[in-house]
Amino acid sequence: MKMQAPAYPTTHQPVLYQEVLNILDPQAGGRFVDATLGGGGHAEGILLASAPDGRLLGLDADPLAIARCTGRLASFGARATLVHANFRRLVEVAQVHGFAEVDGVLLDLGVSSYQLDDPDQGFSFRQAGPLDLRLDPTTGPTASEVVNTLAEDALADLIYRYGEDRFSRRIARSIVAHRPIQSTTELAEVISQAVGGRKGARLHPATRTFQALRIYVNDELASLEAVLPQTVSLLRPGGVLAVISFHSLEDRIVKQFLRRESSDCICPPRTPVCQCGHRAQLVELHRKGLTPGEAEVAENPRSRSARLRSARRL
Ligand SMILES: C[S@@+](CC[C@H](N)C(=O)[O-])C[C@H]1O[C@@H](n2cnc3c(N)ncnc32)[C@H](O)[C@@H]1O
Repeated sequence: MKMQAPAYPTTHQPVLYQEVLNILDPQAGGRFVDATLGGGGHAEGILLASAPDGRLLGLDADPLAIARCTGRLASFGARATLVHANFRRLVEVAQVHGFAEVDGVLLDLGVSSYQLDDPDQGFSFRQAGPLDLRLDPTTGPTASEVVNTLAEDALADLIYRYGEDRFSRRIARSIVAHRPIQSTTELAEVISQAVGGRKGARLHPATRTFQALRIYVNDELASLEAVLPQTVSLLRPGGVLAVISFHSLEDRIVKQFLRRESSDCICPPRTPVCQCGHRAQLVELHRKGLTPGEAEVAENPRSRSARLRSARRL
């Protein structure tokens, strides 16, 4: 499907930009994968730093991101290969395009400012738009289908599980009572009414429900679990994996994966003799991860919950 990049004025500021480049340390002749191209900021940095002949394979589930980056990265010519694909298919896509062994892989999870600011994609409850929330409009259920058809219990469970919202039952009850709900702002209003205005609250009452719907509609946690082992299998010895997550559910998956793959034994605690035969494939680079400094958060508030974890392939 050929997509036109939209004309609304927005940009995406890459988060922890310098930290990512320091960790990946792109060199001439290197091969890199950016599995979450977004606005192409990190990808451009990798291509600039690996001049004159470093190559980059970029993926994004959102065809608009591919259209945008095709323009932004055009000057790099054949050094950049951009593919519309979910990163669940990372190894398959990498092999088809000659990236079977790479020096670095970047995952910058979640959504870009382009997506958040585009009312047509329905990610933001601050602007009226269709209840969609799919990263890839060519596949999967829309948020509207979920909100308007799921049983109340199932809806409450998903808001609790993926949004960690303690008002999940009350919100689900109210959603079911107001069906059909057509737009982002309508859903936000239903949620606000259900939980009441919380004066001085840092988060809008709909924030967690929208996060939960987005994670559910795009099956984001399962995709993350599927891609992590694939990134390791692509890395050459010495190659580096860098992952930026934006909420605790993602970060927990990344942290546990890196811990496990940096360990020589994953037997349950107090097992007298190792039975698992597991061998470490990675060395973690910053055990607690890196977070943006005050200056970055002040300049780009969307970076505030970011955490960058990374590891080197043994
Ligand atoms: C935070 S943005 C990346 C921003 C980018 N690093 C930059 O500098 O502009 C995340 C991007 O990852 C994409 N994405 C999220 N999950 C994905 C998945 N499972 N497969 C492919 N792309 C995905 C989103 O569509 C979005 O464009």
